[in-house]
Amino acid sequence: NPVAAVIPAAGRGVRLGPGAPKALRALNGTPMLIHAVRAMAASRAVSLVVVVAPPDGTAEVKTLLDAHALPERTDFLVVAGGDSRQESVKYGLDALPPGIDIVLVHDAARPLVPVDTVDAVIEAVRDGAPAVVPALPLADTVKQVEPASVPGTPEPVVGTPERARLRAVQTPQGFDRATLVRAHDTVTDDVTDDASMVERLGERVVVVPGHEEAFKVTRPLDLVLAEAVLARRRA
Ligand code: C5P
Repeated sequence: NPVAAVIPAAGRGVRLGPGAPKALRALNGTPMLIHAVRAMAASRAVSLVVVVAPPDGTAEVKTLLDAHALPERTDFLVVAGGDSRQESVKYGLDALPPGIDIVLVHDAARPLVPVDTVDAVIEAVRDGAPAVVPALPLADTVKQVEPASVPGTPEPVVGTPERARLRAVQTPQGFDRATLVRAHDTVTDDVTDDASMVERLGERVVVVPGHEEAFKVTRPLDLVLAEAVLARRRA
């Protein structure tokens, strides 16, 4: 079953501080996006990588892909993104050619996901799951809160879900293509990942083990950690 990876990379990354769009920030001299593209192309199953670029940055992203060594067996496409992550993923799906049965959706902001995690996600989709997410147990206890009744005062806690049953979800998330397309065509709620759209359809979503190095580069300290991981890999 041919596999394509869609990489939404059209976000601004404001939480990372001022500067270039997040996906174009360098990690050890190489843009985060290139690390993410290589992480997907590292899987022998992935025959196509679709990068969803900032609408005013598609030419720059194409130039970037041309300038970096990427596996010969993989094809690359660049399309313009939208106002939300969801919309950007949709434009990536719209660009997929016929013949692709399995789609991975991978955040450019998770540049260091190991290939074994990518392959585990693909294998679980091949084994019949319509949607697969890599995920890890939580170190922190999680509280549910309500907005403070008076702005500026402490938020009241309304519950504590049992930590052992919670998982922190990463990407790449893997999908049966037709299921993901149907989810994007029918679910309009605001969501923060693609699997939750498939959940809304009532389809089965399963978890495979995630990896510590698949963390999301969101805040400035994450850049320090990512460069440390790269340095350790080279050592
Ligand atoms: O903002 P967040 O960290 O959740 O973004 C996750 C991924 O979605 C990032 O790789 C970002 O570039 C992408 N994104 C996008 N289009 C948007 C907003 C975010 O492709 N409009």
